[in-house]
Amino acid sequence: MPRLVVVSNRVAIPDPTGKGSAGGLAVALKEAFQAYQGLWFGWSGRVSSHPSPEPKMVDKGNVHYALMDLAPIDRQEYYNGFANRALWPNMHYRLGLSEFSRADYAGYLRVNRSFANALGQMIRPDDLIWVHDYHLIPLAAELRALGVTNRIGYFHHIPWPAPEVFGTLPGSRELLRAIADYDLVGVQTDLDADNLRRAIVQEVGATQQGVELTTANGHQTRVKGFPIGIDVKGFQQLARRPPTHRIVKQTLASLVSRNLIIGVDRLDYSKGIPERMEAFERFLVANPDQRGHVTFLQIAPTSRSEVPEYVSLSRATSETLGRINGSLGEPGWVPIHYVTTAYPRSVLANLYRIARVGLVTPMRDGMNLVAKEYVAAQDPEDPGVLVLSKFAGAAQQLTDALIVNPNDKFEVAEAIRDAIHMDRDERKERWRRMMKAIQDYDVSWWAASFLKDLSDYRGMSKVRSRI
Ligand code: G6P
Repeated sequence: MPRLVVVSNRVAIPDPTGKGSAGGLAVALKEAFQAYQGLWFGWSGRVSSHPSPEPKMVDKGNVHYALMDLAPIDRQEYYNGFANRALWPNMHYRLGLSEFSRADYAGYLRVNRSFANALGQMIRPDDLIWVHDYHLIPLAAELRALGVTNRIGYFHHIPWPAPEVFGTLPGSRELLRAIADYDLVGVQTDLDADNLRRAIVQEVGATQQGVELTTANGHQTRVKGFPIGIDVKGFQQLARRPPTHRIVKQTLASLVSRNLIIGVDRLDYSKGIPERMEAFERFLVANPDQRGHVTFLQIAPTSRSEVPEYVSLSRATSETLGRINGSLGEPGWVPIHYVTTAYPRSVLANLYRIARVGLVTPMRDGMNLVAKEYVAAQDPEDPGVLVLSKFAGAAQQLTDALIVNPNDKFEVAEAIRDAIHMDRDERKERWRRMMKAIQDYDVSWWAASFLKDLSDYRGMSKVRSRI
C-alpha cells in the first residue's frame, strides 16, 4: 500500500475517548488515511526550551504521528510572528494589520528547514507528500534541497490575494519561488488560483500554459482550485440527533417565541464579528417590532491570544457587544448572546438546526465550512436561511444563500430581515439547491480529487530527472 505523508502545523491526534470535537483537517483526511498507510507530521502544540531535532512518534490505528516541539523563540517568530502577523493579514487583504519583521521571517524559514530535516529522514521513495497551509510554504523547497524527489502537493486553506497585495510583503518573491517547487498547488477558488498563477508568472518569470507553470530551471507545477467540502452525511446525522447537551436545551428553552440567529467563528478579525454585531443592531433599530423576538447567538472561541491584533479584537468585540446589549436590551431580553467557549461539533450541529438564520459574514475567508455545516444541519421540511458574505470562498458554490457585502451594515441588516420573513417554499427551494452543491463537492471529493491529481502527475521536471 502506498504511503500518504501529511504535513501541517497543527496535528489532530484522535481523542481516545472518541468524544472529542475532531474538526477541519482530521475529518477531511479520515477517508484518505483509509486508502493509504499514513504518516502525519507537524507541530506537537508544545513548547520546550530544548526541543529534540527528532520527532516524537505516536501510533494510532494505521496512522503514525510524528510530532515536533518548538522552542519558545520558534513559536514566537514562526507561528505568532511571520505566519500569523505577516502572512495571515496580508492574505486576508488587511495590509494595515500586517507586521513584517526580519527576525520573524528568519524564524519562519528556520522552522521550515528544521521540519524538513526531520521529515526528510523518514521519507520513502514512493511516498506521496501532502503539505497543508501557509505556515509551511517553503517546506517543499527545503525537502528538494535535501534531495527528496517525491511528488509533493500543497493545499492552501486561506485566500490567495491579488499579486499586487501579496507583493507588498517582503519575502513574497522568495515564497513564490518556493511554492513553485511543489508539483501540485491546490487553492480554494478559481480566483485564488488565478491570483497565484499571475504572481508566479510576474515575480518568478514562469511561463504559463493553462493551469501549468514552468519555471526557468524547468520545474513544472500546476495551480488549481479544489474547494474543500465537509462530511455532509456525518454532519447531518449529528444534527438530527435529539439534543441532550445542557447548552442546547437551555437555548431551546429560551426561544419560546424568539427566532435564533447564529454565528460561529474563531475570534479572528477576518471573520467580521463586531461588524456583524453592528449589522444586527441596525436590523433591530430598523425593525423595532422584532425586539424581544429575535436573539443572536455568537459563538467565538478565543484564538491566537498571544498576537496583539487578536487581543485588540477581543477588547473591541466586548465593547461593541456591551454597547449594543446595553442600549437595546431590556430586562428579560438580551439581544446578543456571546460566548468564547469552543463547543463540541454535536452541540454546534444541534444549534445550527434550531437557528432560523445562519449569519456567516467574514470580511474575507478561504472557504468557510460553517456555512456548509449550517446548510447540512437543516431540517429539509423547515430549513433556515443562510446569510453569506460574498468574500467567503463558499459564496462561489452557495449562490442560493442571501449573499451580502459585510462592509455594508445596512445590506446585512436587510438580509437578516428578509431571512426572518422568507416563506417556507422559498427556504426549501434555496436549501435544496445549496444542499446539492455541498453534496456534489463534499470532503471525500476534495481529498480524492487532489490526491488523484497529485498521484497521476507525470510532468517530472527536467531538474528532477537529472538527479
Ligand atoms: C485556519 C487555518 C488553519 C489553522 C486554523 C486555526 O483555519 O487555515 O491552518 O489551523 O485557522 O488557527 P490556529 O492558529 O489555532 O492553528
